[in-house]
Amino acid sequence: MKGIKTVYICSECEYESPKWLGRCPKCNSWNTFVEDAVAVESPSAAKKRPSVARTGENRAARFSELSAPDYIRTETGLCELDRVLGGGLVTGSVVLLSGEPGIGKSTLLLQICDTLCKGKTVLYVSGEESRSQLKLRAERLGVEGERLYVLTETNIESILEEAKTVSPDVIIADSVQTMYSDRVPSAPGSITNVKEVAMSFIAKAKSEGISVILVGHVNKEGGIAGPKVLEHMVDAVLNFEGDKRQSYRIIRANKNRYGSTNEIGVFEMTDTGLREVPNPSEMLLADRPADTSGNCAVCTMEGTRPLVAEIQALVTPTSFPAPRRTSNGIDYNRTYLILAVLEKRLGLKFSANDVYLNVIGGMRIDEPASDLGIALALISSLTDRPIPDDLIAIGELGLSGECRGVANIEGRVREAARLGFTTAVVPLHNVQSCENISGIKVVAAKNVYDILKFLKPKKE
Ligand code: TYD
Ligand code: MG
Repeated sequence: MKGIKTVYICSECEYESPKWLGRCPKCNSWNTFVEDAVAVESPSAAKKRPSVARTGENRAARFSELSAPDYIRTETGLCELDRVLGGGLVTGSVVLLSGEPGIGKSTLLLQICDTLCKGKTVLYVSGEESRSQLKLRAERLGVEGERLYVLTETNIESILEEAKTVSPDVIIADSVQTMYSDRVPSAPGSITNVKEVAMSFIAKAKSEGISVILVGHVNKEGGIAGPKVLEHMVDAVLNFEGDKRQSYRIIRANKNRYGSTNEIGVFEMTDTGLREVPNPSEMLLADRPADTSGNCAVCTMEGTRPLVAEIQALVTPTSFPAPRRTSNGIDYNRTYLILAVLEKRLGLKFSANDVYLNVIGGMRIDEPASDLGIALALISSLTDRPIPDDLIAIGELGLSGECRGVANIEGRVREAARLGFTTAVVPLHNVQSCENISGIKVVAAKNVYDILKFLKPKKE
């Protein structure tokens, strides 16, 4: 077609090439080029495109005269989501919600419509489901919504035209990969199209103060399909994670211009939609096996919330020249580090064994405060000596085998006590700040030798 050229674009850095390349010459990533078609635009037409930077005032302003913004936040009706957003959906912000297909993105968004449209007009644009499908789902979820409008359309120009008549306060676009612009000749879901659609929504959000929630699919590597630049353009990127075979779902902020990225929201998928789990520790500790070796409870901080999780280790004699190390939910490097410390300082022969580590409930733990618990679980499995069920281990492990203090110890021990743990093993340095909590005995561990005494004798 005239005025259209086929190009190959790197999905990492958007480097454009007339032919396919195995390795991007700009960002050096491999196998990131995808075919795309772009319109050959005259420079004057390109200037007319909506730009985020060009909306609003464009004069230099004196910094001292700027006033701090007073964000207007709207509660979504789901406290778990509000907390991840930083206290509610900010007016005029653009949020990207990503997750695997079937994880529950559309369900979550339709559910929040129920509360949102009590005070605001919401336009739910779906490029994936028909009106009757949406209606059926809304009925199942108990969403009524007088001021909820549904549009099944994938052309961004028509969507924005329709938005003029509805004049919504919130637009939900499900999903950005199904939508396309007339300006872009390539197929929906291509890099240029995803970017163009997102840019149009962002321009609309910023110029009219509309909150926009974009749904983004993830590719097989787990990243958001489409250009990486999408993540830089939006105000917040929320990730909806979880194992589809299990009912738990965790929402995490990967980026948030209006709040912390440490908070998580925990949900459970039920037959009437997503249910909030305000006490995730209880959920994670359900069905704990009693009196078996290789299990240890740890307490990690997720934002401001202490979360008690269970680590399981399985250490078995290896039949491979290089022993296997599998770790689910725990950073690999951390696992290797702990194993090396235990091998060197305690002389335990992990090198002759395969090691499997798992965090129950699909949780991910990346805080060093769980080192001590991981170490205990590993030793327990290797020696086949169980750890008491009511013991929790908190602390970081240093390379010399020393137990190092961690932050927020009081909150962690309190949470453990609330859940019925009666002994907390904490670094010596931390003992003072948590020894007077009722119902739980705090025991100091100076180094890795000290934790050995907590293992019960081997069962016959
Ligand atoms: P959905 O929101 O369509 O996922 P996504 O938009 O992320 O692709 O969720 C689909 C799954 O959720 C589907 O497998 C069925 C399940 N589900 C429930 O278990 N209960 C419910 O009430 C609903 C609406 C969906
Ligand atoms: Mg969906």
